[in-house]
Amino acid sequence: MPIRNPETHYLQQAATYKPPNLREGRTEWKSPSNIAIVKYWGKHGKQLPQNPSISLTLSEAYTRTAVSYRVKKTRGLHVDFLFDDRPYPLFAEKIYSFLNQILPFFPFLDWLDLAISSSNSFPHSSGIASSASSMSALVLGLLDIEQQLYGVSKADPAWLQRASFFSRLASGSASRSLFPYAALWGHTPYHDSSSNYFAVGLENRLHPVFKTLRDSILIISSETKIVSSRAGHSLMEKNPYAMIRYQTASETIKELLGVLHTGDIEHFIDITESEALQLHALMMSSKPSFILMEPNTLQLIKLVRQFRAQSGIPICFTLDAGPNLHLLYPELYQDKVKQFIDNQLKEFCQAGAWIDDYVGEGPVKL
Ligand code: PMV
Repeated sequence: MPIRNPETHYLQQAATYKPPNLREGRTEWKSPSNIAIVKYWGKHGKQLPQNPSISLTLSEAYTRTAVSYRVKKTRGLHVDFLFDDRPYPLFAEKIYSFLNQILPFFPFLDWLDLAISSSNSFPHSSGIASSASSMSALVLGLLDIEQQLYGVSKADPAWLQRASFFSRLASGSASRSLFPYAALWGHTPYHDSSSNYFAVGLENRLHPVFKTLRDSILIISSETKIVSSRAGHSLMEKNPYAMIRYQTASETIKELLGVLHTGDIEHFIDITESEALQLHALMMSSKPSFILMEPNTLQLIKLVRQFRAQSGIPICFTLDAGPNLHLLYPELYQDKVKQFIDNQLKEFCQAGAWIDDYVGEGPVKL
């Protein structure tokens, strides 16, 4: 059954809020990044996806965000922002504009002086997309403040849905970071509670092999992307393959939901690699076209496929909107893959850098 847009409900809730009584408080959350298996690429309206996507929640690549607040006498949004204990105007601007956008839903922000301090677990500028972890951590902080001020219960399952809804408004992929192990964002007839407005957790229908999957993230380049995700999404509007892509992805969701349930790892490998290559093929077929892979990305892809064929280890790669390669494989093969990375792959990574990550349980309140 299609889920209606919860926006009206959230606005009605906001209209009941009186100026806060509590004088000050603080909250801190740690929220992970996620890696999409079926990719979201192309959007419409207010940050709504053109096709559903499914991701695995990571653990070691996370953002920690602390939000302190103090009630003030005058009204007006005010935010001090620090990244790694230093001012960072570019992020500060992004956060201010997001808070301004969601002000109708969180009117109490207008009465607060906010001090936000954020840091990433992964090296700054490592080329790992941080919007999913940073925006979900921020939204969790805001919802926590709302709870402190107005007693909105975190135990209510609708709380997580709400966190996902607002994370989505900041960054589409952030909507999926809230859930343990795996999440689905976007409406599909193949999953009952799915919605374009928020993601849903897939924990209950996941085969155990996917709950302990490893993700070794090979850093090939940490340079700023030549085309941002935002620009990439909008180039899909004129991409000649857009419609076929959205249809294909929607059908692949059905396949992947089945695979995640049965634990068919061979089929998982097929889907994962095909999705990564389709994402980059869409970039190459955009007008104007762009290429985010580097020569070393292709070199590593070849080596990973050779290693899989020779060793029989069920390992596969995927890519985000960038050149860095994510290697996914069952926990059982961790030592062998580590040796493979050390012996054959590290030399193609920037300064030998890679992140030893794994599928995890989602955000934690600190
Ligand atoms: O959430 P955004 O707007 O940064 O877009 C993310 C797009 C991909 O990372 C390439 C795919 C995905 O589904 O995460």
